[in-house]
Amino acid sequence: MTTRRKKIYEGKAKILYEGPEPGTLIQYFKDDATAFNAQKKAVLEGKGVINNRISEFVMLKLGAVGIPTHFIKRMNLREQLIKEVEIIPLEVICRNIVAGGLATRLGLEEGTPLPRSIIEFCLKDDKLNDPMVTEEHITAFNWASTQEIDDIMAMTLRINDFLCGMFSAVGITLVDFKIEYGRVYDGEFARVILADEISPDSCRLWDSTTNEKLDKDRFRRDMGEIIESYTEVARRLGIMKEMPTVIRGGLH
Ligand code: TYD
Repeated sequence: MTTRRKKIYEGKAKILYEGPEPGTLIQYFKDDATAFNAQKKAVLEGKGVINNRISEFVMLKLGAVGIPTHFIKRMNLREQLIKEVEIIPLEVICRNIVAGGLATRLGLEEGTPLPRSIIEFCLKDDKLNDPMVTEEHITAFNWASTQEIDDIMAMTLRINDFLCGMFSAVGITLVDFKIEYGRVYDGEFARVILADEISPDSCRLWDSTTNEKLDKDRFRRDMGEIIESYTEVARRLGIMKEMPTVIRGGLH
């Protein structure tokens, strides 16, 4: 069904196709799940459909409070129309509570609230296992300018504040998340906008009362009920009321 379109890029969880107009792309959400730099792989039926909807919802909400994003519109169950950007090769991680890599790296207990939100940068390079880098590396190697780093940090903190409130209103704690940014050009002038996706694949989301995990850690840690948890996140956000039939129907 997506055969005639030109594939621009295939990643671990998404495919980018040429868009209908110059400066646009189609982002297709696959059911593939990977963890630990793709050493662990599975197909989670329906994941792409849920993440497409959750990411649409989040991008629209962020757009409404003035965060520029690449999202244009959702096209169907698995695809959205987006603005083509020049991707900045960084994974921007924002943390509110200790978990995952930070717990391991610094020997901290998972679940400890951080004194303030922390932003980390990792270089997007699977061959190198996405190493953490500092602003010094980023500017020295021209991955982004000082001004772009400032814009990215300010936007990331605004996104974090907004998402913390949005999730806490539905009984979910935003522990941490990863986002990516890209550049769009107005002639010579480049602007940084939010790209990629925001979904339970890229966030740690805990039930506020029980601390039950509702995100990709269920896959990383073999906890099961992954799709059920992602669906629960969507349900609490008030989206995808039709989801159970969609999953059972196995639409692709
Ligand atoms: P982190 O604890 O650094 O890594 P790990 O996934 O190895 O525990 O992850 C922080 C948050 O960022 C977490 O919500 C997962 C997300 N993330 C991604 O979505 N992709 C990535 O490549 C990385 C490193 C993190």
